[in-house]
Amino acid sequence: MEKIAIFFGPLNGSVHRVAKMVAEKIGPELVDLIHIGSASTSDLEKYSKIIFGISTIGKDTWQQKFDNNDWSKFFPAVSSFNFSGKRVAIFGLGDHITYAYHFVDSMGLLGKLIKNQGGEMFGKVSTEGYTFQDSEAIQEGMFIGLPVDEDFEPELTEERVSAWVNKLMTEF
Ligand SMILES: Cc1cc2nc3c(=O)[nH]c(=O)nc-3n(C[C@H](O)[C@H](O)[C@H](O)COP(=O)(O)O)c2cc1C
Repeated sequence: MEKIAIFFGPLNGSVHRVAKMVAEKIGPELVDLIHIGSASTSDLEKYSKIIFGISTIGKDTWQQKFDNNDWSKFFPAVSSFNFSGKRVAIFGLGDHITYAYHFVDSMGLLGKLIKNQGGEMFGKVSTEGYTFQDSEAIQEGMFIGLPVDEDFEPELTEERVSAWVNKLMTEF
């Protein structure tokens, strides 16, 4: 059976922890967990089902969003990649208290980019149960992927990830 890829970054923080949790819930034998710091477009080509894990760091421009993290290097690869025929889902780490007006923005920007590049998005999530003011990750009233707040709602992460993975596996 073809494996699902989880491309994530950065290493050793909340995104990494949640990436491992997502892999665990899907079933580790069904997943390749790939750090984007050592990945290229040829790795994206190998998979038809791709999950991205990203955090929002900064809020004004792509440059600032991805400055000093793995996404600043991987982003150019994603923005030129043809995602036609790929089934894609995203989880995004953020902080709904400190950054209430930019909650998980990077997840939204990445999702829009993937759509523009021909990818089909799965794993949308209702805004119910989340408190925030604004987010680039909302499309047609839903989050484009799974928001996770390990800074202020870590107690909800496991439940959120489980529900998302269960739903995603029926859609993917
Ligand atoms: C400098 C900085 C800027 C941030 N900006 C945002 C933001 O605009 N929106 C948001 O939802 N979270 C923001 N966050 C919170 C992070 O996304 C959150 O802490 C996340 O869990 C970090 O995951 P990582 O350690 O794997 O990168 C910011 C954090 C830092 C340190």
